[in-house]
Amino acid sequence: MPFELAKVLEAHKGQNFRLHSRYISPQLPRVLETLKFDRFYVRGEGCYLYDDKGRQYLDFLAGFGVYALGRSHPAVTRALHEALDADLPNLVQMDCALLPGVLAQALVERTHPGIERVFFTNSGAEAVESAIKFARCATKRDRVLYCDHAFHGLTTGALSLNGGEEFRRGFGPLLPGCAPVPFGDAAALEAELRAGDVAAFVAEPIQGKGVYMATPEYWAQAQQLCRKYKTLLVTDEVQTGFGRTGAMFCYEHWGLQPDIVTVSKALSGGYVPVGAMMCSAKVSDAVYSSMDRAVVHSSTFSTNQLAMVAGLATLQAFEDEDIVDRARRMGDTLAKALAPLVERHEYLHEVRGKGLMVGLVFGEPASASLRRRWKAVEAMRTGMFSQMVVVPLFQRHRILTQVAADNVNVVKLLPPLIVGEEQVDYFVDALDDVLSSAEKGNDLLFEFGTTLAKGTFRRALS
Ligand SMILES: Cc1ncc(COP(=O)(O)O)c(C=O)c1O
Repeated sequence: MPFELAKVLEAHKGQNFRLHSRYISPQLPRVLETLKFDRFYVRGEGCYLYDDKGRQYLDFLAGFGVYALGRSHPAVTRALHEALDADLPNLVQMDCALLPGVLAQALVERTHPGIERVFFTNSGAEAVESAIKFARCATKRDRVLYCDHAFHGLTTGALSLNGGEEFRRGFGPLLPGCAPVPFGDAAALEAELRAGDVAAFVAEPIQGKGVYMATPEYWAQAQQLCRKYKTLLVTDEVQTGFGRTGAMFCYEHWGLQPDIVTVSKALSGGYVPVGAMMCSAKVSDAVYSSMDRAVVHSSTFSTNQLAMVAGLATLQAFEDEDIVDRARRMGDTLAKALAPLVERHEYLHEVRGKGLMVGLVFGEPASASLRRRWKAVEAMRTGMFSQMVVVPLFQRHRILTQVAADNVNVVKLLPPLIVGEEQVDYFVDALDDVLSSAEKGNDLLFEFGTTLAKGTFRRALS
């Protein structure tokens, strides 16, 4: 009997959590059931998700930044259908296919002049792995620096550059020669670079875990120090790339010319995993230095035609819809709309970020009564308050957001870059409502506690 997707979906309707628990891992379902985030989504379109009960959810998470163009973008979908129907000769391997070259050219044309070559990958982490290998090979050095709070993916090499102990624990020993430096501290960076043995300094231009930012002065110094000590500057744009911060690449805001740039997420159009490590011809030629080494760094699926088509169609849609400028403008609109909430709500200390990568930073309120409430919540677990914002945003207002990192009171917003004023207004009103509740009395705490209790109860029954 031939495979029929519709039949498979119908036969397993609503079993997503049960199957995940049984055959993938029970832990994520447990978390989501406890928070009552357990839904059966059946459709996604633009900025919205829809569940089996016909409920609409505003997606301010965008698949961790994958859905820059929104879900089910018609031009990307059409391009992929076209590619499938064309019976393209995929993955011949003893071949140089056309589309990888076309996409590589399109990427190079969008970067600064020092970026001349592309290595395609299947994920963001693999792009970072490639950056580590290329930098070591090109510089003949083995040390790699990364920043505290950094996140570059979870494969072993990328994990060696992770600035959060919670991710590293239990997986060591990791790659030797990797050392953390404080984010934003040029003197500390120079102290590590001075010995002249560092292959690469790998950094996110805005850190995803916590939406931490460094000053433009720091970035200028970091660039200059890397040049001085002949260390390659790697900007990891897996999350910040392709318009997320209101520029094609976030390094543009800081006036950088990184030696290596890693990208992924949004390039996929939300359909086919794709990433890229982009570098100079000099760095690339150091790796591919002879015919013997023509495939010394490679990956079976890296130039997969569907991934290339998804990438090309995505870049075309970016141009057709002026996505980067739109993200910049809507980022300004969102920042302006959120600013009065900082004035109005004692819990909300700051809104930081750039473009449509936004961190809502919560902290201890000034007034004594609210401070007591804050302390009670935080006594349960550091960072609990931000969870108390994310849960009612979802339960009451059906908005999907995330806590930006473990143990921090930052809620991260990554809306699709096609977001409009309607969605911004809806979000800001919802946040206003949630924070007003948090201030008025214990109803938010009660609601949160009930959610946890119900989730736990339901879990116990299942
Ligand atoms: C900056 C950065 N680098 C690398 C990665 C890893 O990407 P992937 O999950 O595709 O491996 C991420 C993922 O969130 C990221 O934000």
